[in-house]
Amino acid sequence: MWVIAHRGASFEAPENTLSAFGRALDAGAEGIELDVYPLRDEWIVFHDRYLARLTAHPGRLQDLTIDQLRKLKVFGQHPVPTLDEALAFIAGRCWVNIELKGADIARGLTRHIRQAVAEHNFTQEQLLVSSFNHHWLRQLKQDHPEQPIGALTTSCPLTYAAFASELEAWSVHIDVDFVTPEFVADAHQRNLKVFVFTVDEPEDMRELHAMGVDGIFTNHPVAARNVIAGLPM
Ligand code: G3P
Ligand code: MG
Repeated sequence: MWVIAHRGASFEAPENTLSAFGRALDAGAEGIELDVYPLRDEWIVFHDRYLARLTAHPGRLQDLTIDQLRKLKVFGQHPVPTLDEALAFIAGRCWVNIELKGADIARGLTRHIRQAVAEHNFTQEQLLVSSFNHHWLRQLKQDHPEQPIGALTTSCPLTYAAFASELEAWSVHIDVDFVTPEFVADAHQRNLKVFVFTVDEPEDMRELHAMGVDGIFTNHPVAARNVIAGLPM
């Protein structure tokens, strides 16, 4: 079962910062999940629509330019990385899940992915793009059939993982509250990987391992590693 650091090792360092990504690499996570928004002039790594929780600054993220954002710090200390800075920092040392939070994939996400492959030691397979917005994923897959995508859901649909097959996804990402053995079996029968978010409790980690899920998104990759090390192979 893969350990995917949710927003980096965000239990140990502020989420979606280079510091959290460094901790995730130190913990030996197989993957790092990060959230991206397009600003007017740059793709940046940030989870919220609004700035207040993370930077104590009023207003909406998408109204800023990159120069304005550069002046803000996460929890008063950590710069908000651009997507390019995050990918240059991780540099192919683990797999990365880019979760699309803001719209407009047409504005050039794939340019950043191509650059990461050309300059930062990633393979295309190491860069998975996911979203709760399945329309964006369908558009991305139509424009770039070679791009692996992950379909997110916070529900257990009546047709289980059929939506992810329809999108030609590589993986399906489901909320821990809604994953069931039936969902996992259906996804596997469709040749989809199953990743579950957000899993910080050892009891859930053990249960999901027994269910046969392929990976968990966790804020605490060190703890997850320890739990998994104690499980039967
Ligand atoms: O990608 C898994 C998970 O991160 C989705 O929810 O709100 O934490 O981005 P959120
Ligand atoms: Mg996310």
